Amino acid sequence: MMEPRYYFLGERETADLDFSNLGFDYVACPYRFEAVFEHGMWRARGLVEDGTVHIPEGSQCLHYGQQLFEGMKVHRGTDGKIYAFRPRDNARRLGEGASYLQGPPVPEELFIRGIEEVVQGNHPYIPPHGSGASLYIRPFYLGVGDNVGVKPASSYIFRIFVSPVGPYYKGGFGPDQGKVFMVSRYDRAAPHGTGHIKAGGNYAASFNPGAEAKAEGFVDAIYLDPAEHRYIEEVGAANFLAFKGDSLLTPDSPSILPSITRLSLLEIAAGVFGWPTETRRIALDELDEMSAAACCGTAAVITWIQRIVDGERGWDFAFDERWQELYDELVGIQTATRDDPFGWRHEIEF
Ligand SMILES: Cc1ncc(COP(=O)(O)O)c(C=O)c1O
Repeated sequence: MMEPRYYFLGERETADLDFSNLGFDYVACPYRFEAVFEHGMWRARGLVEDGTVHIPEGSQCLHYGQQLFEGMKVHRGTDGKIYAFRPRDNARRLGEGASYLQGPPVPEELFIRGIEEVVQGNHPYIPPHGSGASLYIRPFYLGVGDNVGVKPASSYIFRIFVSPVGPYYKGGFGPDQGKVFMVSRYDRAAPHGTGHIKAGGNYAASFNPGAEAKAEGFVDAIYLDPAEHRYIEEVGAANFLAFKGDSLLTPDSPSILPSITRLSLLEIAAGVFGWPTETRRIALDELDEMSAAACCGTAAVITWIQRIVDGERGWDFAFDERWQELYDELVGIQTATRDDPFGWRHEIEF
């Protein structure tokens, strides 16, 4: 029989999980952080054990989609320290979403405190360095209350749960891990709607196109701009990247989510490697002139695209060593195997 182990804050035990073989799935961890907004102010409840959220049946998040979420990762560094990656950028993006949905932003310090407490409380679930896994952090925001009318809530819940995760796309990153995507004729967001914020409704709207792509054997759908269906927008739940000659290109549009991974890769490309970068509209037809394609996100990290299919036509891309260079630098910064010239690592102290 296995000897039971106990953990306390400050002690470094690791949960008995097969960290090297995790998928991108929910693993229940002991604690979640919770704060509530009532009577015009935020109040931190701290760590709670109940993984079920109890909310009034009339809540705006249930009926009118007044809801947001975030996604970020925490890594165990090669130096044994624990690092969150750019959490203030996620705080800012959640705040922008809350303002757009007419709710109170979560104060940045509350957001950071929540991240720190929930990671500290669940520390045995932070995957070991080198396992290829990380601790996924899922902050979310709910408009709640006894309500029927179509109007913003006056009370809110901000919660953060965590789950150790492996690669989002099976196989992860590597020269032999090119993925094939299908251009969808459906839209995930309206031209000037909620595409730029992380509102759950955008993801509900992606289920049907995603299911269609998967049923046809593709990894996921590529979305075009919803106004003209001419320009590339998003790749499933990740931003699009391509190389055209020396330049790293990525789409500009009011209806895509401003990815923090993409922002980081653009800064690495320009600041570390000295490559030209362009953020602008990218027509689907321009794929003829691209030498390499990929998508990026917290979950997808960098996933290189081997083929894009649009009905009868298709584009093939070879693996480009520059994806490897970008990947190694990004993951190196996240896991402290490389310097952090931009100051992106946020150490979680114990
Ligand atoms: C639609 C969409 N695009 C892009 C991204 C990538 O954003 P980030 O790099 O901030 O995770 C995400 C989230 O992961 C997303 O859901």
